[in-house]
Amino acid sequence: MSIVTCIAPVNIAVIKYWGKRDEQLILPVNDSISASLDTDQLCAKTTIMASADFDADRIWLNGREESINNPRLQNCLREIKKRAQLSPEMENWKLHICSKNNFPTAAGLASSAAGYACLSAALAKLYRVEGDISSIARCGSGSACRSVYGGFVRWYAGTDPNGNDSIAKQIVPASHWPEMRILILVVNEERKKTSSAIGMKNGVLTSELLKYRAEHCVPKRVEEMNQAIMTKNFEKFAQLMMKDSNQMHAVCLDTSPPCFYLNDVSFGVIDLIHAYNEASNRVKVGYTNDAGPNTVLYLLEKDVPEVLGLLDYYFPSKPVDNVEYKRGNPPASAPL
Ligand code: PMV
Repeated sequence: MSIVTCIAPVNIAVIKYWGKRDEQLILPVNDSISASLDTDQLCAKTTIMASADFDADRIWLNGREESINNPRLQNCLREIKKRAQLSPEMENWKLHICSKNNFPTAAGLASSAAGYACLSAALAKLYRVEGDISSIARCGSGSACRSVYGGFVRWYAGTDPNGNDSIAKQIVPASHWPEMRILILVVNEERKKTSSAIGMKNGVLTSELLKYRAEHCVPKRVEEMNQAIMTKNFEKFAQLMMKDSNQMHAVCLDTSPPCFYLNDVSFGVIDLIHAYNEASNRVKVGYTNDAGPNTVLYLLEKDVPEVLGLLDYYFPSKPVDNVEYKRGNPPASAPL
């Protein structure tokens, strides 16, 4: 018997991956950039046991048994086995995989990214696979390839039709920008209505804006973002991130049928952040939304107390009557 355990972080994209040029190989239409959270925060933890005594491969997610025949899971298993140094004895061993997230699954909090990165890392450890495993994680869920690394990470779309150059690379470790903080505002813990896979697929088929974005907007933006990270230019970083998030959601609206991931609270937070930045005469906070209503804020440590106070005032965890953020009409006692 052999047993391994790994943990992998959630990553939050600041330049979004939205759209595949190859559905089977999970090859994106554009490069993307994200930051991985520290693994003592939101993460997935996966333990794999391999034994000759097991009669079948099985998987449990958050304590519930799921189908091992999930095609994405099978893709990861197939890819890792291609690179594995398996002893003849181990060839026939079956796997029991247990994975747990310490946060809501499928609510736009990149649960699949952390999960598949973790699965790939654990399989690599089990089968002694060396080198980059981001392409294996990518076979489970595209954005998972970025969760293989810490800090700021770029996923290169690549040009190879077989996807050999579609891999993630670290831009800088988290220690490069120690003042950076991420606040995740959990608006809704429910599963999303349209999966990102379906949203993207429909987008590629029906949205002209998606094509325009991939060809004319992201290539320049991704280089500017890379530069903003390297030079720790927060204002530029936040501006690019907000623009890119809004463009991704505009693509979602431009899709047939349209997919809506943001709700009134998400729009309220977005509006509040713009008003706060305007009132501060500089960009102190940036926001971004993945395929769900939970808005993620990036800001510098020194601004955290003020922003938390602002959020707590307008969006208290337990809503109270008459305190609601409406642009241009703040209550007299409000901080803006
Ligand atoms: O990796 P997927 O298929 O769950 O897609 C994730 C897409 C976004 O989270 C919305 C954007 C991104 O780049 O992470």
